[in-house]
Parts: sequence; C-alpha cells; structure tokens
Amino acid sequence: MKKRMIFATGNQGKMKEIREILADTEYEVVSMKEAGVDAEIIEDGTTFEENAVIKAKAIMELTGELTLADDSGLEIDALNKEPGVYSARYMGEDTPYPVKNQKILDRMEGVPEKERTARFVCVIAAAFPDGQIRTSRGTMEGIIGYEIKGENGFGYDPIFFLPELGRYSAELCSEEKNRLSHRGEALRKIKDIL
Ligand code: IMP
Repeated sequence: MKKRMIFATGNQGKMKEIREILADTEYEVVSMKEAGVDAEIIEDGTTFEENAVIKAKAIMELTGELTLADDSGLEIDALNKEPGVYSARYMGEDTPYPVKNQKILDRMEGVPEKERTARFVCVIAAAFPDGQIRTSRGTMEGIIGYEIKGENGFGYDPIFFLPELGRYSAELCSEEKNRLSHRGEALRKIKDIL
C-alpha cells in the first residue's frame, strides 16, 4: 500500500503536476481538502524558503502526516528582485494580472536588454512527522519582455520571455512549461529527497 502525503495547496493545477511527477514513488499525494484540513496560514516569511516551511510545518502539525508545501514568485534583477515573495500580493491580491504585468513593463521602460534578467523561483518544503524539514529550490531564467504576449500559463507568464526559445512563457504548452519550470525542477529535486 502506498504511503500518504499531503500537498498543502488549494490549487488544482499544482496538485495535477505533483501527482504526475510523484506517480512512480511509494507516495499517494492528497490535497488539504482531501485530508480534511481547512486552515488559513499567514505567510509572513521574507524568503521563499521561510514561507514554504511555514506552510508545510503548520499542516504537518495539524495532521501529523508528511506534508509538502511550495512558495514561488518572480524576481526581477533591475527592480531589486521585486515582486519576489510578494508576487501574488503585488499591487493587491485582487488586481488583475494584465494590470500588474503592464505596471512592470512601465517600470522596466528604458532598461536595456542585458539588464532585464529575471527568474521564476519555486521552493518546496517537506515537513516530516518526526520534525525534520527539507527544502528544494528550482528556477527558470529569462528576461522581462517588451509586451504582454501568449494565452497559456498564468500570472506573470505573458511578460516573461525565454531568449533560448524565442518565446514568452505564456506561449509554452503545459508539457513544455512543466519540463522547464521552476516548479517542475523543485518537485523533481524533492522527489529525490523523499
Ligand atoms: P504561490 O506560490 O502560489 O503563492 O504563487 C506566487 C505567485 O508567483 C503567483 O501568484 C504568480 O503571481 C507568481 N508565479 C509563480 N509561478 C509562476 C509561473 O509559473 N508563472 C507565472 N507566475 C508565477
């Protein structure tokens, strides 16, 4: 019988991705809802690592079960690594992404191409019932483009340009994105730790 593990997210897209990546392990992954946990966790850390650990630990302590949690965001070098851990909250949680993305393009106006470097970061924390904590980090490097482009993905994907591919992240299909993404990399690394 497979061992059970909770993935602390309410996001169905993330659940699908983690189930696919962990399919060949001894773990069955369940969402917080499936585990019967309903908790509002305050993510007041200042790094992706801190926030991922806060979430994983809180749910592990509530359930006593092995719990994974992730935290992710976009770091733009020319903007002092903003929006960083505040990516979801940038300009307010309810502000639509076309508005957030346009604001970033405006702030990047005049910044030359070689200084437009940015990356998506994802940190996954695993909180074990014996109190042990492990983390893994994945990144996807690119630059902030000059327009909003592409229909796929979510969040900041339409302004994130991948120079090697000559395409915006929102122009990748989900298989390509999973293969290249910060989240895919962090998930594969945590799989090796488990
Ligand atoms: P969270 O880790 O679910 O809290 O998400 C953090 C935020 O970072 C998201 O709401 C997006 O704004 C941004 N973000 C994280 N990963 C991606 C991505 O793959 N594409 C676009 N935006 C992302």
